[in-house]
Amino acid sequence: MKKVIVSIFVVALFATFSFAGKPFPADNAFWNKALSKLAEFQLTGQSKQMPLPYAYNALEPSIDAKTMEIHYSKHHAAYTKNMNDATAGTDYVSKPLFQLFTETEKYPVLVKNNAGGFYNHLLFWTVMSPVSGQEPQGDFLKAIKDAFGSFDKFKEVFSNAGKKQFGSGWAWLSVNENGKLVVSSTPNQENPLMSTTEVRGIPVLTLDVWEHAYYLQYQNRRADYVDAFWKIVNWKEVSRRYDVK
Ligand SMILES: [Fe+2]
Repeated sequence: MKKVIVSIFVVALFATFSFAGKPFPADNAFWNKALSKLAEFQLTGQSKQMPLPYAYNALEPSIDAKTMEIHYSKHHAAYTKNMNDATAGTDYVSKPLFQLFTETEKYPVLVKNNAGGFYNHLLFWTVMSPVSGQEPQGDFLKAIKDAFGSFDKFKEVFSNAGKKQFGSGWAWLSVNENGKLVVSSTPNQENPLMSTTEVRGIPVLTLDVWEHAYYLQYQNRRADYVDAFWKIVNWKEVSRRYDVK
């Protein structure tokens, strides 16, 4: 009887640790392939803000120059500085951001918020482009159709994720560990890499729906901002990111 009770206790303990925090599969082939394909996986909590890949006015009229200037030089710069300050002198100072994200609950909320803010904006700048008229092609387009039925339906689902996110947050298109495309939204500066987030995956497209991303130009009309976003998506970069699958 005593053996049975001990066995039940051990099984219960194992189950508790197995499901706590829903750890991202850091040791599986999917993760390792992604690590080798995306240079951003080398970044740590001690990182500089990357140069914006275009001029502040390059995304007009979808996003105005003043919004881009404040967003990049004030908001993103602040997340970057605060992340560097929050990780300096800690025993995780040289850990890759992605490792921090996969065990988010182990670190102070300050690290989660600012490392998330640093990374999410870094990604956001790169998935936009002043080159218009692009659309998904080839394998990536097929994956979109497989997951959502059509490109238009995908745009509707992603747009709704951004429009309906309550308060500040982000809309995401990610590749999950089965290689499938999934849409989700997150509050604050969370992202799909984080262990505290329900829908996990490698982000390939994101949209910032914090008011600081659109309020100067669109005021309360978040939906108009989301609709205008489709004119400036850098589908070439998004497709490249999809190749981590
Ligand atoms: Fe932002």
